Amino acid sequence: MATQWETRMTNQKNERALLLGIDFGTARTAVMSSRRHKGLLQTVVGYPRDVIGVKLLNRTLVVGDEAIEKRSFLDLYHPVADGLLKEANDKDWDAAREILQQAIALSEPRAGERICGIIGVPARATATNRRQLLQLTEGLLDLCLVVSEPFMVAYGLSRLLNTMIVDVGAGTIDLCAMKGSVPAADSQLSILKGGNYIDRLLETAIRDAYAGVQIDRYLARQLKEQHAFVGAPTEAVLVHLRVHGKPMALDVTEAMRMTCETIVPDIVEAIKSLLLSFAPECQAEALANIVLAGGGSRIRGLGALLEQHLREYGDVHVTMVADPEYGGAYGALKLAMELPTDYWSQIGEVIGD
Ligand SMILES: Nc1ncnc2c1ncn2[C@@H]1O[C@H](COP(=O)(O)OP(=O)(O)OP(=O)(O)O)[C@@H](O)[C@H]1O
Ligand SMILES: [Mg+2]
Repeated sequence: MATQWETRMTNQKNERALLLGIDFGTARTAVMSSRRHKGLLQTVVGYPRDVIGVKLLNRTLVVGDEAIEKRSFLDLYHPVADGLLKEANDKDWDAAREILQQAIALSEPRAGERICGIIGVPARATATNRRQLLQLTEGLLDLCLVVSEPFMVAYGLSRLLNTMIVDVGAGTIDLCAMKGSVPAADSQLSILKGGNYIDRLLETAIRDAYAGVQIDRYLARQLKEQHAFVGAPTEAVLVHLRVHGKPMALDVTEAMRMTCETIVPDIVEAIKSLLLSFAPECQAEALANIVLAGGGSRIRGLGALLEQHLREYGDVHVTMVADPEYGGAYGALKLAMELPTDYWSQIGEVIGD
């Protein structure tokens, strides 16, 4: 395939098109374009509950951070759950289209321009899940390819051989064993516990520890993003919340540690199981090349704790990607720019031409 890819500079179709790498995640949607635009928005749409909300917003809907900020008078729709498009109702479908449309707009396409995008899906996405996502892009992208999310991350890092990617997202933790080819199903695993799972546990733990405390999942997420850690605490985690309406400083150190650590045993087991999919002579190298990606890779101490749990396997080395927000979108864009569009269907399912 390398020789075909070398023809990329002469691939007229790619050169004329606007190429996009899109990470359509449960919590965040990231987009990067071949003209160097990049944009990030929360995967959420808010609709005003009534006409007063419409008046306050001066719009009938709002996407991203602003929707979360104004959630007190909006109905929020998170159209991606556990990394997959929700099938529940038309509103979720409309919300998903709206987010995708706004994400594409962030890349400032020119009128009449051909837009070709590569979008990531979780490792466990079924053929139906993939088809739905492709259908969602109809009318928004001229050509779309869906590929496995952790594979996109690996591609972006050029870590294609004897590497394990652990993408700790909001909906799922996706693992992928890179063995020098597009990973097959037996080289990938999804764990249905990501950042959202931690948020729910943290919300409950804080509520149980402090009667009358006012906290919701969004606030729990904010606290986690500021203070998440696993292993021995280096300092107490004090947060400012309202209890029965009064502002108070609360110690949530233990709640933070316990809830963040709930994902560790699953990740350790998944790494052990993926390790067996490598040939024995490649296993030492794979263990020395574990890469944490996704927003959850920012949990302090996660890499060190994983290394500790796996120490009986020899020399285990866990590193973190430098830019967890854009790791997936960057890998997808890199693939889009390096692979002539005529070859996209060799990598996965496509729609358009
Ligand atoms: N500093 C941080 N510490 C801990 N968690 C964080 C931090 N920053 C972001 N996160 C969490 O990372 C998650 C978002 O990561 P990411 O954008 O990779 O997920 P996603 O791609 O939207 O989800 P998925 O891949 O499951 O569809 C959220 O749960 C968020 O709270
Ligand atoms: Mg993700």
